[in-house]
Amino acid sequence: MNILVTGGSGYIGSHACVALLAAGHAVTVVDDLSNSRPEVLDRVARIAGRRPVFFEGDVRDRALLRRVFAASPIDAVIHFAGLKAVGESVAQPLRYYDCNVGGAIVLCEVMSECAVKTLIFSSSATVYGDPASVPIREDFPRSATNPYGASKLMIEDILADLAQADREWRIARLRYFNPVGAHASGLIGEEPNGIPNNLLPYVAQVAAGKRQQLSVFGNDYPTPDGTGVRDYIHVMDLVEGHLAALDYLLDKGGLLTVNLGTGCGYSVLDMVRAFETASGCPVPYALVPRRPGDIAACYADPALAEALLGWQARRGIEEMCSDAWRWQQQCAST
Ligand code: NAD
Ligand code: WQD
Repeated sequence: MNILVTGGSGYIGSHACVALLAAGHAVTVVDDLSNSRPEVLDRVARIAGRRPVFFEGDVRDRALLRRVFAASPIDAVIHFAGLKAVGESVAQPLRYYDCNVGGAIVLCEVMSECAVKTLIFSSSATVYGDPASVPIREDFPRSATNPYGASKLMIEDILADLAQADREWRIARLRYFNPVGAHASGLIGEEPNGIPNNLLPYVAQVAAGKRQQLSVFGNDYPTPDGTGVRDYIHVMDLVEGHLAALDYLLDKGGLLTVNLGTGCGYSVLDMVRAFETASGCPVPYALVPRRPGDIAACYADPALAEALLGWQARRGIEEMCSDAWRWQQQCAST
């Protein structure tokens, strides 16, 4: 099949391109390079032995999307393109709603025009807000505490309405927990702009000596060691979940909503220790007050994904940390 990957030069999108190419699909990428570099697709080609067709531009650009769909028949779309920084979304809500919600609407409109009605959407565990309990099941109540999360909620609702209105649509809403790690080649990985917001990229930069120490945001949470607990999932496991979702949609159709997580929760200090072991480098840290908006614990019940997709995450935190470290040493910011 020919799969259109929006945001395909980004962190998760580039790994999805590798997995799709390895599975024998042709890949077309649309990315405006607002948070990625074109060299990423050279590296995807080095790993996969084949190159995605690349269109540089914005998914809100209807004329561009029409050119993309006219250039070669597209069978399905995986929509990663969007803005994802929570703090930035609070400061720039209109930019986030326009890019994320507006982008999804224009994409679906052009897909509809071109009779391409198979879509996989990157949702997030952020749609569960502060869950009443863990592990989190897909039928838990949804809420948002910031414009980024609200944009994901809105898109989820728009896609449900679309699937309801036109039964030809086959739509997956995949709720990612905390994607980390990198492709085992060390050639592609997460490349944060400036000071990393997320834990693992920050820890990797401390281990590499680029930053002095990690600030651990809060050690008074009701968790085993007092630090925040999350469901870290290896990015290659995550993208393999997309291939399983694609197979499911082609077979069953309809609207699919599943968590992509491991079901295991690890604390900040668990991750620090795992990274020290994987890298052989110390990760000095300081305990500081909680980060506003953070929750104590967030991890998935992954049973539905396993039941419906036959998919489960296979890679543990050792592999997540060693692959992130290989990427950090070989290629990050080069
Ligand atoms: P990323 O920023 O690395 O990748 C997104 C890509 O989309 C970038 O290459 C960027 O240049 C591109 N892009 C942004 N706006 C665009 C637009 N309007 N038109 C075309 N291209 C555009 O982010 P990522 O971590 O790979 O995330 C991919 C998706 O997964 C996002 O939708 C994100 O919200 C979602 N998600 C990410 C996480 C995470 O922790 N990384 C967790 C849950 C959900
Ligand atoms: C993980 C843990 C922090 C940095 C965010 C978004 C979420 C999703 C994934 C897209 C927490 C602690 C972190 C640091 C720390 N993105 N931490 N020091 O907050 O679970 O989720 O990214 O959908 O929407 O909110 O991930 O990696 O920022 O934090 O102590 O320097 O690490 O407090 O407990 P989070 P994270």
